[in-house]
Amino acid sequence: MSLISSATREAELLSQRLLEAQRNRAGIDSSTTAFRVVNGAGDNLEGLTIDAFEDVLVASLYVDLSQAQENALLEVIAQTLEPRSIYLKRRPREARVAATTERDFLAPDAPAWGEQVDSLVALENGVRYLIQPGGDLSVGLFLDMRDTRHWLRFNNSNRTVLNCFAYTCGFGVTATLAGSDRAVNLDLSKRVLEWGADNYRQNKLIPKQFDFISGDVFDWVTRLKRRGDTFGTLILDPPSFATSKFARFSAVSNYDELIENVIPLLEPDGLLLACCNHHKLERRFFMAAIKRGLERAGRGYNLIASLGQSPIDFPVPDALEPPLKVFALEIA
Ligand SMILES: C[S@@+](CC[C@H](N)C(=O)[O-])C[C@H]1O[C@@H](n2cnc3c(N)ncnc32)[C@H](O)[C@@H]1O
Repeated sequence: MSLISSATREAELLSQRLLEAQRNRAGIDSSTTAFRVVNGAGDNLEGLTIDAFEDVLVASLYVDLSQAQENALLEVIAQTLEPRSIYLKRRPREARVAATTERDFLAPDAPAWGEQVDSLVALENGVRYLIQPGGDLSVGLFLDMRDTRHWLRFNNSNRTVLNCFAYTCGFGVTATLAGSDRAVNLDLSKRVLEWGADNYRQNKLIPKQFDFISGDVFDWVTRLKRRGDTFGTLILDPPSFATSKFARFSAVSNYDELIENVIPLLEPDGLLLACCNHHKLERRFFMAAIKRGLERAGRGYNLIASLGQSPIDFPVPDALEPPLKVFALEIA
């Protein structure tokens, strides 16, 4: 089925598939109002994902559609799922749209359908997160990490946490809710860390200014090591690619080096949560990279849990491996 036709039969088929996807999420209870409603090919709707944040939908398009085709698609989504608003993110894979890849085109401020909602609070297993649906491709929470955040909340007994590549500090919030006294959130962007501090406040936690470090992980790891800081839990959730003054990182080629470099900051018997959301780094190769990094650093390990995206709202076609892979390891 194509996403692009406004013909009646196509619209009916799209509507049926949306309803089927919605029915498949019926097991998500009211303590979670932020979840994925449509996961592309996993829901027989290749090229389209839809995330729900309360009654606001964020639809991402991975195909190029004309304005008329987009309008027809939005109309069917609106009629079928009856949201308050739909925000659109255009995520074309191909450079042929390079001329029109300004932020306003990719992630318009205004909703494509319904009323303007500048920000809202959505729940994930009862934890409150601030969401900004418009204006950026990322809206404040990566929903595929839900099960991992939940796992951390009930499995982290360590008092200190280093959350590398923290974004809006979802892991910092859950670790603090789990009882950690110190969760250091490290990210390049001051803006997302301020957003993270708001997420703390949303959950009645007091953000301590010195636990939000805006800087480069590859630089700060060296500084923290020099300072003699160590942590009970170390969270690594890097982007697939990162280029900075201090390093060029690609998850496929450099995850082992990242582990080797960062692991001295982890106390003996500490918890390492290593995450990768890159479809080109297969699960077994990701695990092999982690092992290589640990071996080079002279640290043993014990695998505690293999985590990843929830099959309820992030289904993938049978033949494919889920892109998100997370390993929780106890490090000797
Ligand atoms: C995949 S997101 C992390 C998601 C986050 N762990 C969460 O649970 O929501 C990647 C983050 O890494 C940050 N980032 C990219 N390169 C960085 C670097 N060299 N040092 C610090 N942060 C970096 C980006 O600003 C972005 O917020």
